[in-house]
Amino acid sequence: MTSLTENAIEILRENDRGSYTVPTKGLYPFQWNWDSCLTSLGQRHFDEARAWTEIDTLFAHQWPCGMVPHIVFHKHDDGYFPGPDVWATNRPVPTSGITQPAVAGFALRRLYDLASDKAAAETRVRVLLPKVAAWHRWFYATRDPAGTGLVAILHPWEAGRDNSIDWDTPFDRVPTDGISPYTRRDTQHADPAHRPTKEQYDRYLWLVEHFRGLGWDTTKLHDASPFQVVDPGFNAILIRASADLADLAEGLGETALAAENRAFAARGLAAMEGLWSDAHGQYLCRDRVTGALIDSASIGGLLAAFCAIPSARAQAIAATIDAHGTRFRVASHPPSDPRFDAKRYWRGPVWLVVNYMIADGLARAGAQEAADKITASSLDLIRTSGFAEYYDPMTGEPLGGGRFTWTAAMVLEFLSMEA
Ligand code: DGY
Repeated sequence: MTSLTENAIEILRENDRGSYTVPTKGLYPFQWNWDSCLTSLGQRHFDEARAWTEIDTLFAHQWPCGMVPHIVFHKHDDGYFPGPDVWATNRPVPTSGITQPAVAGFALRRLYDLASDKAAAETRVRVLLPKVAAWHRWFYATRDPAGTGLVAILHPWEAGRDNSIDWDTPFDRVPTDGISPYTRRDTQHADPAHRPTKEQYDRYLWLVEHFRGLGWDTTKLHDASPFQVVDPGFNAILIRASADLADLAEGLGETALAAENRAFAARGLAAMEGLWSDAHGQYLCRDRVTGALIDSASIGGLLAAFCAIPSARAQAIAATIDAHGTRFRVASHPPSDPRFDAKRYWRGPVWLVVNYMIADGLARAGAQEAADKITASSLDLIRTSGFAEYYDPMTGEPLGGGRFTWTAAMVLEFLSMEA
């Protein structure tokens, strides 16, 4: 076992709270939705049963409407803001009231396909399958009310790319008046210069308070939100998860679930084409309120490669990544854009989870060389800078939280691909 593998396993064990894993102690002391699903992919390398439990725990807190919240506040912890009292979602175990990228369907399939104990895996999948399907159904019903084939996010935290340049223009519409006074906690754990700004936090909170005022009725939020963005990365994850869930369901004889998810994926894929930009050589976000494409060539439009886009599009995305010209790939924003910031969260830094999904998608589309370059660069980064939350794409400087769970999980996945 290499020391990289040993370190990764040590971090995953250190952040394990029994039935769920925290992203990192201090900064993120609860269970996060897409963190957990990606974490399970690392856990499978040394404890398959534990990997399934990570996802089981998340879905134990699914809302009756089908939504799976972005945070489950299992235990009280003062070190994080906004905590359960701000969300006030009135759930038996407190949760946030928004969601996150739908990685679960992809994770389920990967855990099942690669399981050494197939019988145990089948038992777990049969329980989780209808729950993940209910989440997908919820997405298309509440976040695509006009039936366009693509869903909208209503809060930047839903995309997981909190302060991406993608949100700057639509965020202008989000007011800040009337929000309750608050004290940030994140800036006590990480360098404020590497985190979102106060102006962004004010808007994050305005949206939370606005949705709370609607009683967290998830059928009302979409139309009532001044922030509705169709993000290609977010949709690609949901499309891929729907296709993976369809395959799984088919293999298990769940034909209705298979057909339903096959249809979600097909409609989504067809609609993705409307987000393509020849000028940028990648997909772009669409502001659903104005109808306009957002002129921001962020990593969200490269992450689109995670679903089955045409291979010419995948090749163009590979060329766009090459053109970034950074020492480490993949920068979350191109350095040629004056708004690029090498150290500020999602405005430039490299994130291993996104690298993993882009590499996986490019390999599936036949762009193996481009995928290999991302895998090699990701491992190079870890060997240079350790297991951080994110990294400066120019220097490799580790940024944000340390001993980060999903980074460790992705290292185990990358090492298995390299082998
Ligand atoms: C945070 O608090 O920084 C998170 O990204 C919200 O999920």
